[in-house]
This record gives sequence, structure tokens and C-alpha cells, in this order.
Amino acid sequence: MLTDLFGTPDDPRVPPGVNLDLELLRRAAGPTRRDFSGVERGLYRKHCAVCHGISGDGAGPIAAMLNPYPRDYRYGVFKYTSTVLGAKPTRQDLERTIRRGIPGTGMPSFAPLPDEDIQALIEYVQYLSIRGETELYLLRLVVDENELLPLSKQSVIDEGVLPVAEAWEAPEKDPEHWVVRPQRPQLDEAQLKAAIERGKLVYQEPRSQCVKCHGPEGRGDGEQTDLYDDWNKPKKGVTEEQTRQLSRWFSLPLQQLKPRNFQEGIFHGGGRPEDIYLRIYVGIKGTPMPAMGPSPGQPGILTPEEIWDLTFYVLSLARKNDIKK
Ligand code: HEC
Ligand code: HEC
Repeated sequence: MLTDLFGTPDDPRVPPGVNLDLELLRRAAGPTRRDFSGVERGLYRKHCAVCHGISGDGAGPIAAMLNPYPRDYRYGVFKYTSTVLGAKPTRQDLERTIRRGIPGTGMPSFAPLPDEDIQALIEYVQYLSIRGETELYLLRLVVDENELLPLSKQSVIDEGVLPVAEAWEAPEKDPEHWVVRPQRPQLDEAQLKAAIERGKLVYQEPRSQCVKCHGPEGRGDGEQTDLYDDWNKPKKGVTEEQTRQLSRWFSLPLQQLKPRNFQEGIFHGGGRPEDIYLRIYVGIKGTPMPAMGPSPGQPGILTPEEIWDLTFYVLSLARKNDIKK
């Protein structure tokens, strides 16, 4: 069914109703080579597969050496986005990640690549992710729900593929609803100092929960330590013995997740105030780092003003460390 709908990662096919550009996909797909007109193809295998795996399952040959592991695109979840809770990333979010990399992790910057190559890679990551979510959907049908084979292709398209494809299009079609655009307040020095002071208070308030994970001074040493991202949670049993037994179902061992130490000053989603604001506002998807701002149907825990104050406080912790060095 998967091959019928999506072809293979080497020879992709776009299922009906899915808005992906097959020409771009073909530039990224397959083995690294130049075609008869000199156009480079196989970009994904050349630049990405060693970590993210040929099928985008995040288990490429060197994945086991990295912490955090490379993203498994099949979950359809991306950490560093400008979109509200539960939404897919925008094209620009993926572009920023690919161009800038994710500092503090194995994800390198691909800034030197020409724009056409980056566009082809963004398209291909979306393709692998939609294909991957469909793969997991099919597995669940067959294994968990004991769905009788053969499956109807149309029902797989309607119930498995199209909802995922629509979720990818939503933030592009209706950014007002899905995308958060930070409007940084212009502050003079005294106002910035006041904002940092207010941010410190919000940080320490129980409703923000920041201290619980990031610790009283933002060193990533809060009392909550047993944290895992959504890719690792299924590997965690209640007892150690259970965890050991579960491990044989997974290609990569269980990996714990640490809250960020702000004093180190390395921000994975970017270190500009706008980046930190987004991280606090929409959270880090697929991780215990919560969204503090409003999202459709949810009032949010903090106001945009409070989130700016927190942003400046977090950055002040990082800068303090710069000065000490
Ligand atoms: C050396 C290993 C490595 C290579 C090569 C690599 N990545 Fe990554 N990538 C990672 C790691 C590790 C993460 C996860 C970081 C994290 O979870 O914070 C990641 C995460 C990502 C994400 C998810 C971002 C998010 O918001 O969740 C995308 C998209 C991505 N990589 C795309 C690519 C593309 C496209 C290429 C090739 C052009 C590539 N990566 C090459 C290691 C790599
Ligand atoms: C339940 C635990 C938890 C709580 C509560 C929490 N965080 Fe986090 N936070 C995390 C984890 C875990 C990460 C690292 C995620 C990753 O690397 O995948 C993180 C990362 C961050 C980052 C780093 C972003 C980057 O780009 O590197 C910032 C900034 C941050 N948190 C701020 C806050 C603030 C401010 C609060 C309070 C409003 C807060 N966090 C509450 C767990 C938490």
C-alpha cells in the first residue's frame, strides 16, 4: 500500500490530493548523481541520510552516536516551529532549521547549499514525513486494530493520507490562525532592566513551572528529571525490567532528555529574542517543554507581555555567563 501510494524514497510518487512538487522531490531522491543535463540529484542521501535514515526514520548509520537522536520524521512532529501547539511547521521553519542547523546537537548547518537544493530538501522532508505518518497509520490499523486485509486504497487515502496532507497545508493557507509572529517591544536600557526583573518573577511563579524543570537559576537542574521526548517515551517501561524488554522493539536505545541550561547560552532553536519568545509561546513540540501562549481553543497560561519579560530574563542569564567567561 505504501509503495502504491508513495513509490519508494528513491523513486517517489505523490498520492492524489497531496500537494508536493514531484520535480523537487526527484532532485532530492535516490542515489547521489548528476543527470544528463548536469543537475545534481540524490541530495537527501548525500547530505542527510547518514543521520536521518533513507526512509526518514531517524535511524541512519550514525544516529546511535548522537544525543539527541536525529529526527524520526514519521511522527510528523517537529520541535522548532513558529506554529501553535499541535500544528505542523511552516516551510520557513524547516528552511531555517536546514540553513542554520540546530546548535548544540548533531544537526549541521546547510547554509552553503544553493536555494534550489534547500527547496528540494524541504519538499523531500515533507514527503518523507507524510509517507512516514501513513506508514505508522497502516501499521496501527493492521497490528493494533486487527484490521482485515486487504485495505481499501481509497479509505487509506481519505483517512490516513489526506488529514496529514491538510495539516501540512493549514499554516500556509491560514497563517493568521496557526502562525505566531513575534513583535519585539522596543525597550531602552531602563525598560529592559525592568522587563528582566518582571521576567524573573514570572519565572519563579508556580503557574509558569519553569523552575520545576530548568532550576532556580536556569541551569537545567530542576527537581523534575525523568523527562523523555515523544520519540523515546514508548521505549520507557514502568520498571527497569520492562524498559529492558521494550528495548528489543526499537533500533535506538532509550535516551533521556535534559531541560536546557540557559547559562550555557546555546539555544537550539536560535538565540535571537524572537526565537526564545517562540520557544516559550508555542513550546518545543514532542517534548515536555510546554506552550505558554494561547492556541486555538486554549487561553494560554501567560500573556505575550509576560512571555517577552521571560524571554529577556532567560537571555540575561545566558549573557551573564558570557561576561564571566
Ligand atoms: C550529522 C547528523 C545530521 C545530519 C547530516 C542531518 N541532520 Fe537533521 N537533525 C539531526 C539531529 C541530531 C536532529 C535533532 C535535534 C533535536 O532533536 O534537537 C535533527 C533534526 C532535524 C530536523 C527537525 C527539526 C525540528 O524542528 O524538529 C529536520 C527538519 C532536519 N534535521 C533536516 C535535515 C536535513 C534536510 C538534512 C540534510 C540536508 C539533515 N537534517 C542532516 C542530525 C542531522
Ligand atoms: C516539564 C519540564 C519543562 C518546563 C515546565 C519548562 N521547560 Fe523549558 N525546556 C524543557 C526541556 C526538556 C527543554 C529541551 C527540549 C529539547 O532539547 O528537546 C527545554 C528547553 C527550553 C528552552 C531552550 C530553547 C532552545 O531553543 O534551546 C527555553 C528557552 C526554555 N525551555 C524556557 C522555558 C521557560 C521560560 C519555562 C517556563 C515558562 C520552561 N522552559 C518550562 C523542559 C521544560
